[in-house]
Amino acid sequence: MEGLEKITSLAKRRGFVYPGSEIYGGLSGFYDFGPLGVELKFNIKQAWWSEMVQMKDDIKGLSSAIIMNPKIWEASGHLSGFSDLLVECPKCHKRFKTEDLTKKGDSFVCPECDNTFQSKARQFNLMFKTFVGPAEDSVSAAYLRPETAGGIFVNFKNVLDTTRLKIPFGIAQIGKAFRNEINPKDFIFRTREFEQMELEYFVKPEEADRYFKEWVETRFDWYQTLGLKNIRKREQAKEERAHYSKATVDIEYQFPFGWQEIEGIANRSDFDLKAQMKFSGKDLNYFDEETKEKFVPYVIEPSAGVERIFFALLCEAYAEEQIAKNEKRIVLKLNPQLAPYKVAVFPLLANKPKLVELARSIYKNLKKDFAVAWDDRGNIGKRYFSQDEIGTVLAVTVDFQSLEDQTVTLRDRDTTKQIRTSTSELKEVIKKIINGEEFLKFGKLVK
Ligand code: GAP
Repeated sequence: MEGLEKITSLAKRRGFVYPGSEIYGGLSGFYDFGPLGVELKFNIKQAWWSEMVQMKDDIKGLSSAIIMNPKIWEASGHLSGFSDLLVECPKCHKRFKTEDLTKKGDSFVCPECDNTFQSKARQFNLMFKTFVGPAEDSVSAAYLRPETAGGIFVNFKNVLDTTRLKIPFGIAQIGKAFRNEINPKDFIFRTREFEQMELEYFVKPEEADRYFKEWVETRFDWYQTLGLKNIRKREQAKEERAHYSKATVDIEYQFPFGWQEIEGIANRSDFDLKAQMKFSGKDLNYFDEETKEKFVPYVIEPSAGVERIFFALLCEAYAEEQIAKNEKRIVLKLNPQLAPYKVAVFPLLANKPKLVELARSIYKNLKKDFAVAWDDRGNIGKRYFSQDEIGTVLAVTVDFQSLEDQTVTLRDRDTTKQIRTSTSELKEVIKKIINGEEFLKFGKLVK
């Protein structure tokens, strides 16, 4: 998987993703996000929040605790049912999820050492266990949440009581989730700590099918606006579905290692609210003021993983281009809204104080509105390529003409074309390009 190696190496080399705890040899299934990675992650979350909360009247946000009363996970079925079937290869002692192994008759084939073996699979619960307070006993046991959804269900009543939401309505949350995956794999695709962006959309039971279909389409469209082209929808078969789901459609991206889920949209029915109601003894019914009816809503859940979207975006955006006979470049053609840096500012020459001074003042001014990079090292071509590789949308160069007429060159990442623009209009022009209102093509602005 040559493509994959190139992407992971770029991610490390340029500070998107580092192996977690690297100086101690790492910790399997955990990654750290570097200066560029944290910006890209932030922009993905921002785009989701804007679409799912800020732009919606019927959806409110929530941020619940990662560690909650363990009863929640008893009620949700995670304590008894959130497990994978685990087998261990007797030769190399590696452990696998049975679904990741190929079968030869009644035997498994080890993907690590090719050993063919028979083994009884055992259930392995994926929740990380910890203890609250000083005593490590069963009374103080607690779990790191395996999904952010649990926090939403137990705050269903709180949110209803403190807002003026009426059915149908949603509660959205972005936050960390943890799963003690048996076999973390494929870079940041399957990890043990990750971030979810989840919406629980509460509806009348009889309207659940319609809203389920609507959300599948809405979410699919969103990925297209992010710039992901290699995506598809796939309905999960009954035996694949989570224990709470009546129907699930996955949105999949074609990674270098195959089609894989980046988001799942599930019809969780009234399973969760009923279960939390039963275990807590609290009334979680919804009272409809108009019809005077009391009922437990159904819930439609679009649930996405930040890191999987991040990874898909890197795969989609990565390109190697021959731009002149002896010149090749690597470019990340990220959606401008998501790119870690929107613009880079360069003085043409670092040893000309007047150029540096003007470039510095432009840099400082742009920083008030955008994420901006500064670079004054080496030749200008190298600086452009260095920014292309991390997806910086535009580059501003201050040259000798700038000192005379207060214009600068503005270079576009995707086309490598340049225009001259006045410093007084620079901010507006950049804003329009980032917002997709105008594009820099063929050396002039195109609407
Ligand atoms: N609340 C529903 C739920 O958690 P899920 O399909 O298990 O459903 C939803 O997870 C999303 O969370 C997935 O589509 C994926 O993007 C992300 N996700 C799940 N497990 C993950 C893991 N081990 N590593 C990275 N992301 C993961």
